[in-house]
Amino acid sequence: MSSKKLTRVSIILVLVMVLVLCYCVELEAQLQVGFYSSSCRIAEFIVKDEVRKGFFSDRGVAAGLVRLHFHDCFVRGCDASVLIDTTPSNTAEKDSPANNPSLRGFEVIDKAKARLEAACKGVVSCADIVAFAARDSVEITGGLGYDVPAGRRDGRVSLSSEASANLPPPFFNVNQLTQTFANKGLTQDEMATLSGAHTIGRSHCTSFSNRLYSYNTTTSQDPSIDKVYAGQLKQQCPQGSTNANLVVPMNPATPSITDVGYYVDVLANRGLLTSDQTLLTNSATANQVSQNAGNPLLWRSKFAAAMVKMGRIGVMTGTAGEIRANCRRSMVVLQVTSVGNGRPSSYVVRVDGLPDTTVGTGDAGVQRVAIVANCDKSTPELASST
Ligand code: HEM
Ligand SMILES: *[C@@H]1O[C@H](CO)[C@@H](O)[C@H](O)[C@H]1NC(C)=O
Repeated sequence: MSSKKLTRVSIILVLVMVLVLCYCVELEAQLQVGFYSSSCRIAEFIVKDEVRKGFFSDRGVAAGLVRLHFHDCFVRGCDASVLIDTTPSNTAEKDSPANNPSLRGFEVIDKAKARLEAACKGVVSCADIVAFAARDSVEITGGLGYDVPAGRRDGRVSLSSEASANLPPPFFNVNQLTQTFANKGLTQDEMATLSGAHTIGRSHCTSFSNRLYSYNTTTSQDPSIDKVYAGQLKQQCPQGSTNANLVVPMNPATPSITDVGYYVDVLANRGLLTSDQTLLTNSATANQVSQNAGNPLLWRSKFAAAMVKMGRIGVMTGTAGEIRANCRRSMVVLQVTSVGNGRPSSYVVRVDGLPDTTVGTGDAGVQRVAIVANCDKSTPELASST
């Protein structure tokens, strides 16, 4: 094994160690409202300004950004892993079928990040930008603004397979949804509250066409969908259409307003997705749907609180992770699928931005590591050299 390769291997080893150690040490660190008030006073303003610009050129951007935060937080915590681009040797979260081609709003994050790097280089994490942008999107569409606790750090790993494994598909029933949210520390009530985000934005026909044409082997149309609404949807989403870009609004009456229109729809059997309409099949969630439909002020504040809670899922703080310079790329210049069976008994490793560390190959848990770090330059030869 060449020394160059050894260095690379050891960098991976230490990377894994550092991630694990930092995670333990940093459990104490808390997100804070106003985290950038001294380090980058203008941070939240810049994000809001870019959300505003994005929204006025395309209102759908707001929905995209709210969903982006959700899809970030449910996969490896709110660490901006959803923003990392696919590389030749790694398919990233954003290219999972759960995200591609439907997820949008990335350019708003990129623009905000570029301005933030110019104003306060290396200070504001991509994960916080996503959290701020989601809040600003709720606000700009008429929802309740809320303080965003910040101080998230960016992750280095983004795997398509983890998006599919952690994000709820549109055909889930209420028990499956409750379980998916419970896995992330959210209650069933919070699940029903957050589903109200479907009051803005759109869905591709492919996300619900089974409800119109292939419900089960004996019945083509989902009996829980209002017949008139189903007829309209069939016109907008013709059977067998080859156009994968067809979309319909989630809440046709007010598609760009964060109101309780979603709950009104569901009550009228006009929930678009199976996962929307299923909320009526459980007595607790059915009660929440009617309560929210009839009490906009209650839902607004519950939604804001649930967004804050969602924004805490699995966050890294302190010195864990990194602050990316470009939200699409981790700072780590490595791409490895596995390392193990190290030859020397220890390595001294120096990685930019990390303290020097000695890693013994005998360290438990370090011998066989499966990790994919995203990077600028992939080193596929490494995978085969170990
Ligand atoms: C309860 C489980 C959920 C499921 C199964 C689900 C599924 C989906 C699906 C399939 C779409 C349509 C994507 C497309 O085809 O274009 C969508 C859109 C959307 N979702 Fe969810 N979602 C869930 C919860 C949430 C939560 C918790 C939020 C945010 C708090 C959220 C925010 C959105 C938004 C804003 C859109 C519209 C996106 C756009 O217009 O670009 N969803 N969701
Ligand atoms: C299909 O759905 C209908 C309506 O819910 C139901 O009555 C029927 O039993 C289902 N058929 C099968 C094969 O599951």
